[in-house]
Amino acid sequence: MTMHMHTRVGIIGAGPAGLFLSLLLALEGIDSIVIENRSRAEVASTIRAGVLEQGTVDLMREMGLGERMQREGVVHHGIELRFDGRGHRINLHELTNGRAIMIYPQHEVIKDCIAARLKQGGQILFEVQEVQLSGVASDQPLIQFMHDHEQVELQCDFIAGCDGFHGVARGSIPASIQHTYSRAYPFGWLGILLQAPPSAQELIYAYHQRGFALVSTRSPEIQRMYIQCDPQDDIANWSDAMIIEELQARLVTHDNWQLRVGPIIQKSILAMRSFVIEPMQYGHLFLAGDAAHIVPPTGAKGLNLAVADVRHLARALAQSGAPTS
Ligand code: FAD
Ligand code: PHB
Repeated sequence: MTMHMHTRVGIIGAGPAGLFLSLLLALEGIDSIVIENRSRAEVASTIRAGVLEQGTVDLMREMGLGERMQREGVVHHGIELRFDGRGHRINLHELTNGRAIMIYPQHEVIKDCIAARLKQGGQILFEVQEVQLSGVASDQPLIQFMHDHEQVELQCDFIAGCDGFHGVARGSIPASIQHTYSRAYPFGWLGILLQAPPSAQELIYAYHQRGFALVSTRSPEIQRMYIQCDPQDDIANWSDAMIIEELQARLVTHDNWQLRVGPIIQKSILAMRSFVIEPMQYGHLFLAGDAAHIVPPTGAKGLNLAVADVRHLARALAQSGAPTS
């Protein structure tokens, strides 16, 4: 049996792009359904971004999503650039007319968005399978998928492909009109989560002959750090002791700064890639966030770009007279 549903905007993906879009549309009175192929627990525990830019922070506050971020997030007014054994502070606050960055992990943002959307009575269907789009050039595009062992046909006025870099939505734009630009970088980042107190009050970006290193944080108890490595390397080649030793070597200073160490609770190697597709709209299908463009994690930018995309998309859908509920 097939279950038939209808919504104004069918949103594929419960990452930052999809969740912010559903919440922004709700503020405009536009109804949406989010479908996500992973479980709620998995979505809310994937470790990714850590840095929120001022625009994202302001939007979360305006949307009434800022309460926990305000309590648990940490505002940084500057960053340190470290080279030749010396640190050089860049005062972001002074250089950007009082702006700052907020350290509040992506999975916490996701948890807040899911809770807020469900509290509003919004629908987020987790663990969907076999997602297929059709009729995207028409004014009644369709998303078909399996949910709870049932076939579902979700008729939409618009579809938002917020399904990340590996999603399916992008494939519905005919190859003949797609232009993609991509670049794979010849270096990767070995990223770890370290159970230890923070080693610094702000992020440290270190340049060293042995390669780049970054000291970031996730909470007062968990620190996030990266070291530049060969993107083809296998994480199995890196013992915890080697990683710590490499961090200490790359971060060394003349004033005997000490890295605070502890158990490594997660480690992986990330490849670095830039990618963008145009157009981001085809008929009644819109792409947003990583589905349309990715930048390497070096810039701490992707989540913020995803949020900026859907901010424009929500406004455009509201102004274009997307039927309201
Ligand atoms: P995603 O977060 O990828 O969400 C897409 C969702 O769609 C996923 O939940 C996925 O399961 C779901 N999906 C996929 N296919 C389907 C399908 N067929 N059907 C249904 N659902 C589907 N950005 C920053 O701004 N600041 C940072 O500090 C930062 N640090 C980073 C550090 C690392 C290590 C990495 C890897 C990334 C970092 N980023 C950072 C980038 C940021 O995490 C991404 O840009 C952001 O997650 C993009 O959001 P999105 O919603 O577009 O896509
Ligand atoms: C992170 O904490 O994951 C992070 C911080 C700063 C960056 C990139 C990633 O530039």
